[in-house]
Amino acid sequence: MYVTALGLYECEINGQTVGRDVFTPGWTEYRKRVQVQTYDVTALLRAGENAWGAILGDGWFCGHISSKDRQGYGPQPVFLAQLEITMPDGSVHRIVTDSSWKYSTGPILENDLIMGESYDARLELENWSLPGFREEGWLPVVEEAAPQIILTASASPPVRRQEVIRINGPLGAGAPAGKRSIFDVGQNIAGRVCITVRGPRGGHFHIRHAEMLDAHGELYVDNLRSARCTDKYTCKGGEEETWEPRFTFHGFRYVEIVFSGPDIEIVKIEAVALYSDMEQTGSFSCSQPLVNQLFQNIHWGMKGNFLEVPTDCPQRDERLGWTGDAQVFVSTAGFLRDVRGFFTKWMLDVADAQKPSGAISSVAPQIDARTGEDAGPGWSDAAIICPWEIYRVYGDRRILEQNYATMQRFIEFLRDKRCRDHIRSHPSVDPWGGHGDWLAMDGGVDREGSTPKDLIGTAYFAYDLELLSRIAGILGKTDDSIHYKAWREEVVRAFRRRFVTEDGLLVGNNQTSHVLALHFNLLPEVARNIAASELAKNIQKRSYHLSTGFLGTPYICRVLEDAGHLDVAYKLLEQETFPSWLFPVKNGATTIWERWDSWTPDKGFQAARMNSFNHYAYGAIGAWLVGTVAGIELDADQPGGSHILFRPRPGGTITQAEASWHTVRGRVAIKWEKCNDRLNLALTVPAFGCATLLPPDGYVAGQLKFGPGRHEIVLNGEVLAQKINRAS
Ligand code: BGC
Repeated sequence: MYVTALGLYECEINGQTVGRDVFTPGWTEYRKRVQVQTYDVTALLRAGENAWGAILGDGWFCGHISSKDRQGYGPQPVFLAQLEITMPDGSVHRIVTDSSWKYSTGPILENDLIMGESYDARLELENWSLPGFREEGWLPVVEEAAPQIILTASASPPVRRQEVIRINGPLGAGAPAGKRSIFDVGQNIAGRVCITVRGPRGGHFHIRHAEMLDAHGELYVDNLRSARCTDKYTCKGGEEETWEPRFTFHGFRYVEIVFSGPDIEIVKIEAVALYSDMEQTGSFSCSQPLVNQLFQNIHWGMKGNFLEVPTDCPQRDERLGWTGDAQVFVSTAGFLRDVRGFFTKWMLDVADAQKPSGAISSVAPQIDARTGEDAGPGWSDAAIICPWEIYRVYGDRRILEQNYATMQRFIEFLRDKRCRDHIRSHPSVDPWGGHGDWLAMDGGVDREGSTPKDLIGTAYFAYDLELLSRIAGILGKTDDSIHYKAWREEVVRAFRRRFVTEDGLLVGNNQTSHVLALHFNLLPEVARNIAASELAKNIQKRSYHLSTGFLGTPYICRVLEDAGHLDVAYKLLEQETFPSWLFPVKNGATTIWERWDSWTPDKGFQAARMNSFNHYAYGAIGAWLVGTVAGIELDADQPGGSHILFRPRPGGTITQAEASWHTVRGRVAIKWEKCNDRLNLALTVPAFGCATLLPPDGYVAGQLKFGPGRHEIVLNGEVLAQKINRAS
């Protein structure tokens, strides 16, 4: 069966649901493209009469998206399907959607991704997809001319029900049979509730969702903005009845159920986490429990936001594919789960949203003119950075090939429309200059931090050109590669002219300016050392607290480490007071918060107009936990795990760490433990790869090479590594 819809669909054949996918056909730029699913339905068919139908929902096509009104792409769902049956004699029967089909309304009274779903079980159509059903009162469908858009198979895994969490409760005094009860799922998720009740016919209840409770123990819903996030159910009565909404999801940890009367009994209540079906590939743990919880929160931040597209958040009326958020998190995501298909598909969304000028949209799929304009530095650069990171993790050039033209057009747009004298976001040509170092804690305009926007812009521009030069080289486009490299050098010179003083100091003397200049390698040697110590000084002055936003945060620890300030990096990592990564953890977070001060003991909740408790961006530190704390890094020159760099850098209070990563070349793992002045290491090299050990400072000079298999090593301080066992 080939099937798609503008809207959402769920098919049934002979009373059984087809497949396990949720929110099909997924979200794309429907004005250009829609995905088609293919199911082998042989096992559902039988000799003789068969019945086939579909339930349609609004979804992204005609429900609310973000804070916009309904019907953004079209007025109502449209369905297209083809059942192809090859008979034993080889002949093929095709049953297609045409004007012979009929439709009816049913028990779903409302369905909306942002608002919720209402279901009246009294209106269920018994046996509607079984042969023999009499479709009395059903009306002929309206046949529409096929829109001129691309039908495409999806590269992305579908969204599925991934984890079911049994909910205990309720909290506080309320009893399940009372009028109103609040339940704690124990984990902030994206998904919905599956509930079994016993109640009278016509008895009803509604389920509200929230991420947090307020000071009075009530649901805190102000941060959901216009998202109603409420599901409603009316009982048909009699036996137990189980319901899980079909065409909605919410971002929540707490649920409140309000009953029409005390005669409805909850038999079972579960929370169902929904996300795209990406296999888990990475795991990490260490001797510091709070850092382990941070890592779990990073992982849950991904699960809650990798739902069809990489969203900023799953709860408020937003849930959009923000390019900047995806860009900062992509390398952490590539460790945690298999995101090849997910990003291959999303890069198509990015390309579909590209403007004729070459500008890259703030969000993909694009939803309106505002989010469709140039996304600015750190956001639009996702068009280059994301394919590059996916290539680094999987070693598959196709994502570079597929996106090369988009990248080129984007770079030309920057040159023609956003630069003056190689300075990107130069105020004379780009007065807005982008989102800045979004949500940084160092003052500046609104939520944009104090890092000069032209500094951010030019730093990212240089990075784009560096990557593009490497990508061109990988694709065999030698002339392009040389061209972009030379261009980068000019940009770097312009950067130095504008942002580095004669004394080697950096304009924009804050954390993020230094982080970007160092990480993108934009400074001359002497200025590098000055910048690194200025950065360390700034952090010390703040008593080892972060002041970085979305753009400075991902790299700050790596930059410190590379500049010989590993101790400072660990102090930041293990900082428990605000602003820091562990502050939310200490305060019970189960996901990554959007803002360092999403909630603080003195001020309570941050401004409700923008305050999500499930935003993965600051979880970008995950890449450093894996690459430095545990010590597994993929070599971009031999990508996909062909060559592993083991580079554990013990520090802080952490005495033991381990990580494991299923790369496309096999499993790579590391486990290290500090015993006095020794470091015990167990390394696993992928079956189709090799590895180099880069020992921490003070342990051994030089490098050690390894082939596939497991190796146990003891590093003595200053003594050359002694291999005690080498198996293959
Ligand atoms: C989103 C962010 C996004 C930002 C850009 C916010 O509303 O939630 O994560 O990157 O806007 O300004």
